[in-house]
Amino acid sequence: MLTVAEAIEKRRSIRKFKPDPVPDELIDQILEAGRLAPSGTNRQPWRFQVIREGELKKRLLEEAVIGDPPQVAQAPVIIVCGSELLTFVKGHKLAPPNSDYFGADSAEWEEISKFLPDAHMYTAIAIEHMALMATALGLGSCWVQRIRFGQTAKTLGWPRHIVVLTLLLIGYADEDPPPRPRVRLEEIVLKEGQIPE
Ligand SMILES: Cc1cc2nc3c(=O)[nH]c(=O)nc-3n(C[C@H](O)[C@H](O)[C@H](O)COP(=O)(O)O)c2cc1C
Repeated sequence: MLTVAEAIEKRRSIRKFKPDPVPDELIDQILEAGRLAPSGTNRQPWRFQVIREGELKKRLLEEAVIGDPPQVAQAPVIIVCGSELLTFVKGHKLAPPNSDYFGADSAEWEEISKFLPDAHMYTAIAIEHMALMATALGLGSCWVQRIRFGQTAKTLGWPRHIVVLTLLLIGYADEDPPPRPRVRLEEIVLKEGQIPE
């Protein structure tokens, strides 16, 4: 298996997948990498649903995915990723103990929706853990956010308090794209004491 540094270096967004099925054990390892992610107050709001070839995938493609991206149709596994906002409700059984100082006073939408940016931030960390684990296991992945978020939830029957963030495509890569450009380190790192323009 690749080291973390190797996986970070090697990961690409993959948009061409082989039809080969992905063994369940590898998907389990990927989900486990998501489960181990850090989150504020250890809320762990991430929720994942694994969609393989079948009726649900067909409906996601027809109803929820925007445009006709071939990589979504090709991907043998789609992990739908979302955030459970009830983990932010004070005293709720899904919330971590002693989280009263940072949370919603009730499960009403107006209350819990205030915590969506935090929830999605934590879930995004878990998703990238999964993408890196996929690379380490020799698999390709791609985030896909060009979706109708509300419709994705509707198609899957998710309740309003679990908000869809992205699809994560997983499969064996049928392409080996070169690294995509990144801005230079000097452009993103401020020197100690430097005042940005
Ligand atoms: C939050 C997020 C949303 C993305 N949405 C899409 C998408 O809808 N479709 C797609 O093909 N790629 C999507 N990508 C992949 C990016 O285009 C890709 O990460 C970026 O171009 C850099 O390429 P690399 O991942 O190969 O380094 C998304 C990536 C992230 C992190």
